[in-house]
Amino acid sequence: MYHSINPTDLDFFESLLGDRCKYDRDTCVAYNHDHTEDLQFTPSVVLFPKSTQEVSDILAYCHQCNIPVTPAGARTGLSGGCLPIYGGVMLSSEKLNRILEIDEKNAQVITEPGVITEVLQDAVKAKGLFYPPDPASKGSCFIGGNIAENSGGPKAVKYGVTKDWVLNLEIVLADGTIMWTGANVVKNATGYNLTQLVVGSEGTLAFVTKIVLRLIAHPTQTLLMLVPFYDALHACQAVSSIFNAGITPSGLEFMEHNALKWSQAFSQDYSIEVKDEHAAHLLIEVDGFDSEQLMKECEIILSVLENYETDEILFAESEAQKNTLWGLRRKVGEAVKAQSVYKEEDTVVPRFALPQLLETVKNIGGKYGFESVCYGHAGDGNLHVNIIKGNLSDLFWNEELPIAIRELFTEVIKLGGTISGEHGIGLVQKPYMDLAFSPSGMELMRGIKHVFDPKGILNPGKIF
Ligand code: LAC
Ligand code: ZN
Repeated sequence: MYHSINPTDLDFFESLLGDRCKYDRDTCVAYNHDHTEDLQFTPSVVLFPKSTQEVSDILAYCHQCNIPVTPAGARTGLSGGCLPIYGGVMLSSEKLNRILEIDEKNAQVITEPGVITEVLQDAVKAKGLFYPPDPASKGSCFIGGNIAENSGGPKAVKYGVTKDWVLNLEIVLADGTIMWTGANVVKNATGYNLTQLVVGSEGTLAFVTKIVLRLIAHPTQTLLMLVPFYDALHACQAVSSIFNAGITPSGLEFMEHNALKWSQAFSQDYSIEVKDEHAAHLLIEVDGFDSEQLMKECEIILSVLENYETDEILFAESEAQKNTLWGLRRKVGEAVKAQSVYKEEDTVVPRFALPQLLETVKNIGGKYGFESVCYGHAGDGNLHVNIIKGNLSDLFWNEELPIAIRELFTEVIKLGGTISGEHGIGLVQKPYMDLAFSPSGMELMRGIKHVFDPKGILNPGKIF
């Protein structure tokens, strides 16, 4: 169906990019995976353009020759979004890594896609500005990947996800056309919202070459507490009670016992006591500019927590302790991966249904015989369900587990939720898309894909 890359194609790419065209075995193998399970697909060539024009020239050529192109950032994704399942070109944003302008007067930043999210955050923070979305991998993921997947992270609960900060994008279409999707304004009622169509499209509609983000003043204070619960369902119930008391925390994270225990072991950091009887923890952060106001918010949270059985609450006493607590939370994913082969489901429900979601996960686990470790962005109703392979047979893993996952997603949708909160559909969740969308919805999405990319060369085999 696609053209296989031959020496003439490689000559063309080399004439365009010189040594930023790599097709040696070692490079291609090094780029054959992301952070999704243990999946591997090897590209024929990895290209590292440095300019929009180079991206355009590459895409125009691939479009003409029918060569599949898989856009890739830092490859930290969890749904296989940048796996080149048909081989061909991997189009890396690694060398498109400049922050082009921090516009302090308008509180905006213009950046290329290959900038590490935390590097971008630090650069704007140095000017007193805040770009809040902070995926767990913020120290290694790229802002372009965050755009592709519409990434979330702990701060989404107060500040929203990536899409809420994107004003405008420079994109290159599948045939090499260069265009902007919108304008650098915070209000825009001009035509269809092409910017937001591209955000979260997982590299299937266009390659993003420039990103305009809005910013806000950086909060000066945070307070952070770790709350141990004897009953994980109580932890889930407390979440909506906190919001109902009028508080919007800047982080409200849930971790089951093993999530925190494994993260401690993985990080070799036992500075926090986690008792066997602690079934789950909530990590709760408030932020702002006025410490008295934050203390008041914490008092309200504490009064809400009195309705649940908690053990002694730990208030972070120093920046170092805050970093320890957030570090433990951020490393849960890696810690689980180090423990066993696993599958991660990125379930999300309306916040009040979180306790039912956790119960459903455990009931289905009991029925099919799998263990799960759950953690995630409780304030968003976004629970990462990590299903542990452990000693389960390959037969179970490959044949029965998909049936169990289908059952889980069916229940998630009955609870008013959907099948991915922030990791995207990519490759691994696409068998379940029919649960989230009617045939008409799927048809509409395929139609959009066809308008942007009629030959289907951009990130083929993803989403549907
Ligand atoms: C996290 C990633 C897995 O929340 O989304 O840790
Ligand atoms: Zn997450």
